[in-house]
Amino acid sequence: MATASAEHRPDSLRAGCVEAVAAADLDRKVAIVRVVYARWKDRTISLMRPGDPPVPDRPGRPDRPALVDPRKVARRSLHSLRGRIALLHALAHIELNAIDLALDIVARFAPERPPASFFDGWMQVAFEEAKHFSLLRARLRALGADYGDLPAHGGLWEAAHQTRNDLYARLAVVPLILEARGLDVTPSLIDKMTETGDDETAAILDIIYTDEKKHVAIGAKWFRFYCARERTDPARRFRELVRANFRGDLKPPFNDRARAEAGLTPLFYRSLTATSNA
Ligand SMILES: [Fe+2]
Ligand SMILES: [Fe+2]
Repeated sequence: MATASAEHRPDSLRAGCVEAVAAADLDRKVAIVRVVYARWKDRTISLMRPGDPPVPDRPGRPDRPALVDPRKVARRSLHSLRGRIALLHALAHIELNAIDLALDIVARFAPERPPASFFDGWMQVAFEEAKHFSLLRARLRALGADYGDLPAHGGLWEAAHQTRNDLYARLAVVPLILEARGLDVTPSLIDKMTETGDDETAAILDIIYTDEKKHVAIGAKWFRFYCARERTDPARRFRELVRANFRGDLKPPFNDRARAEAGLTPLFYRSLTATSNA
């Protein structure tokens, strides 16, 4: 199977991210992310160069899984092995999309010349999403399954991709809605896995939960940074962007504490729920 070796030398951070997004071989995608992350961290590649390839509209994907309407993705009890495999598969699919979204934000918005620490943050996210995907895939394999065995949610990329022309909207939708949602639901999943005696899966979810708090914090930091530069109120701007760019309501219950630790206070999201009277 093709992998990116330590000798792999992308021409720039942007080119490396484009190459990783485009990779359909998922081992290769993960390997490129690791190399590009390390090279950017060591400052041995530049941000961008003339002639960098264009950012692809959609990421490279293997033939399987089949992508289907989310209503057709079966939900099963987490007390059965099949149910745990279905959960791990769905989470692996989310993490795979998260890898490409973090790379996409780097490649797509590099020409806007944010501060270098913007790229440090999103490359850390890409690296950690690749770690999450790899951990979940290894767990699926340990349980006799693999990523690709089940159908997966076909709309994840599109929902985020709609925000491609607006960095504010991208930050609002990806880290501050989708990843923040992970903070709400993951603690109860960890409890369920512990209850069923699947401590290995619980330990992986624990790593993901810890990392995702950082991802939401990175999103909130840059969202606040751009709002401060524009002298707009971040919570109000967030609510406007969500109404314009996100279909549906935000679903309580919220993990207010984890969200607040990441810099996402209730003023951002409370009034966006269906039942709210705020
Ligand atoms: Fe993740
Ligand atoms: Fe994340």
